[in-house]
Formats: sequence, structure tokens, C-alpha cells
Amino acid sequence: MQRISVTEVAGKVGQEVLIKGWVHTRRDHGKLIFLDVRDRSGIIQVVFIPSNKEAHELAQKLRSEFVVAIKGQVNERPANMVNDNITTGKVEMLALELEILNEAKTPPFEIDKDTIGINEEIRLKYRYLDLRSERMTRNMVMRSKVSKLFRDYLGNQDFLEIETPILTKGTPEGAREFMVPSRIYPGKFYVLPQSPQQFKQLLMVAGAEKYFQLARCFRDEDTRGDRQAEFTQLDIEMSFGEQEDIFSLIEPMMIQLIETLYPNKKITTKPFPRLTYAECMEKYGSDKPDLRVNKEDPDELALMWLIDPPMFKYSEREKKLVASHHPFTMPNLEDMKAFPDEPKKWRAYGYDIVLNGFEIGGGSIRIHLRDIQQKVFELLGVGENEIKNRFGHMLEAFEFGAPPHGGIALGVDRIMALLQNEPNIREVIVFPKTGDSRDLMMDAPNYTSKKALSDAHIQIADEVIKEANKKGENLFGEQTETAD
Ligand code: AMO
Repeated sequence: MQRISVTEVAGKVGQEVLIKGWVHTRRDHGKLIFLDVRDRSGIIQVVFIPSNKEAHELAQKLRSEFVVAIKGQVNERPANMVNDNITTGKVEMLALELEILNEAKTPPFEIDKDTIGINEEIRLKYRYLDLRSERMTRNMVMRSKVSKLFRDYLGNQDFLEIETPILTKGTPEGAREFMVPSRIYPGKFYVLPQSPQQFKQLLMVAGAEKYFQLARCFRDEDTRGDRQAEFTQLDIEMSFGEQEDIFSLIEPMMIQLIETLYPNKKITTKPFPRLTYAECMEKYGSDKPDLRVNKEDPDELALMWLIDPPMFKYSEREKKLVASHHPFTMPNLEDMKAFPDEPKKWRAYGYDIVLNGFEIGGGSIRIHLRDIQQKVFELLGVGENEIKNRFGHMLEAFEFGAPPHGGIALGVDRIMALLQNEPNIREVIVFPKTGDSRDLMMDAPNYTSKKALSDAHIQIADEVIKEANKKGENLFGEQTETAD
């Protein structure tokens, strides 16, 4: 017999079915044993009666989280036993055969209840158990549905899904970068991308015209509620488009997403209001205001576009101009003409999309002309040598018939956290890092073996060794040696 999911059982009254899943709860009512069996789709009640001796005896051995296969007869529940809280609440299964597929230790926390109040370090260490809980499963399932909607929507609009490299060179997105030492080239490093920005622009030069990717991005920055060192963008770029084309691509996509997957939520204003940076700062003192009518209502979604941001801002830390978005953003050409010597007055052809006070995406029309790109780098104080070393490939590419192009990247984790009414993005990432960027389940980052270090041509600094010895930590780990 073929296994069906537990929610499918609801439609099989009068039939015999086979289900497989986990013991959610077990209740002994005198002679009757009631099980709630859980799989990804939900929960079903199964009853064991003493006259089925073999199954009934085996059922007495069951504990929470045992893995079981149960063949049974689907019956309607008596009216007074109907449970309207679950989709299978009108039926129950009379167990005919039970097989224990695996036993389970008692979990370190209760999985049949919401785990939000459990110590997060324990949840993260046993994330595979945390994810079994109903809310976390729902977050995982909804994220998959959202990704599919993005893929279908963009695919239908003739966008190509293209993967770009993870081992690459630095991108100027403003954060510190993660580095990967090269074994073959001693002293040289790959850098993990802060975003696929340069690759997607080079794909436009390559004639891809419409690109998207659910892209993993890496930024070595402090983890916070809405930030992770590793996160996901819905990254998009198109050729021959203006700002208006980007808006009329993204806005219907967001509306479709909310109306089809979150029908209980309400969008405050359609079309999304557009506020210039100057207006926004003057009116709200923020470039990401929460425009909800009722700020306490998580089911109200206020989306807006922030437009005309400044091209540059002055960084007190670096004591120089830095790009407000990134240095590939096209400056407003009229501003350039009107204030040739006052770049701080230039606006950029850039935009952010804001949801309930959170920046959920940002993008711009890009520079596709070499001279303007060179000028922007100069204004940013990037020296001639650095321009050549870091961005020579971009400038060169612009000389081979680069089309006008622009794009945007949406922060998928932030969107999911807001749509799922979660307090932070860790709740919607299956295996997130802690606030201080550790993976408690895998125990990463960690020390490595002497052999691995030597292969990577890396020597650990003396003070690090001293510090580890002081703490009694085994600096060179017990890790499996890498293969030659
Ligand atoms: P930007 O840096 O604005 O633009 O990033 C785009 C969106 O990504 C999300 N985001 C993050 N989410 C979680 N953790 C983080 N550390 C994090 N950093 C950013 C935000 C943000 O709006 N290449 C450009 C896009 C472009 O110009 O097309 C870029 O990365 O929601």
C-alpha cells in the first residue's frame, strides 16, 4: 500500500490507508490508546483498541517522536469528538497494523508546543527538532511557496534563472568580506560575494537581458534581528529598462505574492506610494517609515518606494565620500550637469522598497558608460591602481557594448519574517547563525587541523594560540584530515 500524507486521510472516509510519521502525542484512556501522528502536512488522530492485541501491545511502547508506519481504517469522528482546530479534525484512524520504524530519545524541549519561548541556544543546537514544531514547519513550507511564486512569476516574464560564483573577488557593497584561502595560489584569497552585483551586470553585457537568482550573499557584519552574515536575496537585473520598468515588474509580483499566499493580509495602499528621499526625511525623519494606518496590526502591509536618494554621503569614519547605494549606481545626469563640482548634491537613479518600516529591497539603474563609472570611482577616492585592480574588468566590459541596465535585490529573509509575523529573520531561516555569528548545531566556526592549515598556507598568530591554550581549547581540533 502506498503511503499518503496525514492531511490526505481526511478525504478517505471508509477506506484503508497507510501513513508514516512521528508520534506527536500519546494518550492512554484506559483501554483505548490515542496517538496524534504528525508528518509535514499536519496531524491525525489514531486509535488503538484492545481487541487488536498485537498493535495495541506495540502501541504501549510508543513515546513522543518515535517514527511509525500505521495502516488503518478511516472513520468519521462522533460529532462530540470533532476537532475544528486541525484539518483532519472530522476523522480518525482505527489502527489495524503498527510498525515502529525508529525509536527516539526524549527531545530536549517539547516539540508539540510552540518553541518560541524556549532558550534559543538550545533550539539552534537541536534545530532539526525545532523545525519539526508546527510554526517552524509552516515557516519552512511558506518560504518554499514564496520562492516558487517568485520563480514562476519571473520565469513567466521571460527572466532567466542563472547561478553566479560563490568563490570570487571583492564586491563594494560596504560590508567586511569573508575570505577563502587558495590552496593552489599561496597567499591568495577568494572572497565570498556580498551580492552578485558585478556578475549580474556582466550578464547584461553578455546579452542575458533578464536575469534573476535566489542568491546567497555573505557579509561579515554583526548579526542583528534583521541581519545575518549569510542571507538570501531575490536578485534581479534587466537590460534596456528604466526605473519604471523595475517598479512595474516588482509591484505586481509583491501584490500577487500577498494576495495569493497571504489572503488574510491587507495592503494599505495600491499602487505603492513613492516618496523621494528628501520628502521622506522631512516628513518622517527616516528613509524607511512605517506607513501602516494601524502600526500594531501585523496583518496590514504598507509598502512604499523610496526614490531619488543622494548619490553620495559623507562617511565620518572614513573621512570621505562613500556611495549611498553602491558605486555602480547611475547619478542623476541633470544634477551632474547643474552641480558639476558638488557631487553631494547629486541624486542617484536608485530606489528602495520598504515594508512596514523595514527596507526589504534596494536597487538602481546602473552606470553603463565607462567615463561616468571612472568619474564616480574618482569621486569616491578610489585610486587609479585600485580602480584597475579591483574594477578593471567592469570598466573594460563597459567598452564592449554594455547596454543600459538596472535591477534590484529583495531581502527574502526579511520579507518572510514580516509575512510570517516573526520577530526576527532567524525564525524563517532553517539553519541561522546566532547573534554572534555561530552555528551551534554544526559548531562553526571552529579550529581546523594542522594539515588543513598547511594546505591553505595559513599560520595562526601567536596571540591566538596563547589565548586558546589559556582557555584549554584544542587549537588544531580533532577534525578529519583533508584528502590530498
Ligand atoms: P543591498 O545591500 O541594499 O543591495 O541589499 C538588498 C536587500 O538585501 C537585504 N539585506 C539583508 N538581509 C539580511 N541580512 C543582511 N545582512 C542583509 N543585508 C541586506 C535587505 C536589502 O534591502 N546588489 C545590491 C542590489 C542592487 O543594486 O540590485 C544590494 O545587495 O532587504
